[in-house]
Amino acid sequence: MKTVNTVRELRAAVAEARAAGKRIALVPTMGNLHNGHISLIRRAKILGDFVIASIFVNPLQFGKGEDLDNYPRTLNADQDKLVEADCDVLFAPSVDEMYPLGMENQTIVRVSGVSEGLCGASRPGHFDGVSTVVSKLFNMAQPDLAVFGQKDYQQLAVIRHMVRDLNMPIEIFGEPTVRAEDGLALSSRNGYLTEQERSQAPKLYATLQTIAQKLQTSSDFDVIISAAKDELTQAGFTPDYLEIREAYSLAPATSAAKEVVILAAAYLGKTRLIDNLVVERV
Ligand code: PAJ
Repeated sequence: MKTVNTVRELRAAVAEARAAGKRIALVPTMGNLHNGHISLIRRAKILGDFVIASIFVNPLQFGKGEDLDNYPRTLNADQDKLVEADCDVLFAPSVDEMYPLGMENQTIVRVSGVSEGLCGASRPGHFDGVSTVVSKLFNMAQPDLAVFGQKDYQQLAVIRHMVRDLNMPIEIFGEPTVRAEDGLALSSRNGYLTEQERSQAPKLYATLQTIAQKLQTSSDFDVIISAAKDELTQAGFTPDYLEIREAYSLAPATSAAKEVVILAAAYLGKTRLIDNLVVERV
């Protein structure tokens, strides 16, 4: 695997792969790679012939007081994992390479609708940062396809809408969430948890599963959600949001909705965890 740090080198590598008739797949990440990220690389390798992973801790998507400075940076270990997963190129640019004129002078891509509410409400400007950096990565790598995780469900919806609204000729694939044996969704932020918090953390997914079960026999969303929030609080969480939405549009779900997604964000101590579960109601 080749590691490149500049757009120029990335373009040269892509041009060579294109000339060889390869189908190019991009997997954007912020590094500190775990098996969730690696599952995306492996999927990309099946869907395409030439896989580019990017590692860039994007300051534009972090709010004031968020964990930009503490975000884990583990480039050497990440490179080893990417080599093992048969990744072709790692693009690991600096902040200057991505934002040469400074972030304040950067053109912003804003996706309306799906980026509002949920994480968009708790983290103002977050999705503008995500859609902007992903647009830039798409233009730099010009992939045929890109692979994202369903773990960040709203992010995936934002990217799908962006690609549709801006006519980007890139196929977007969403991959299932990879979990620890106890159900906790793998996340780079899990490393912030104390041992005690780590033992409480699986309760988030367990709560989503309880809600999913109740949704098969009840349409009283308010009652279900309020009980679940109490459960989370009792388990030591401070819920940020817990909502039932239409699975595709992310509009608030009506009681008749067949395919819904339960989305949650909750703090355990200082760590903010997110998770979601898609439910088909019979
Ligand atoms: P990051 O949090 O590093 O995630 C990179 C990709 O891995 C995202 O598509 C995310 O949904 C996916 N992912 C994370 N945990 C996963 C899990 N447990 N199972 C499956 N996939 C998982 O998301 C970002 O970075 C950034 O916002 C980015 C898109 C790179 C833009 O900066």
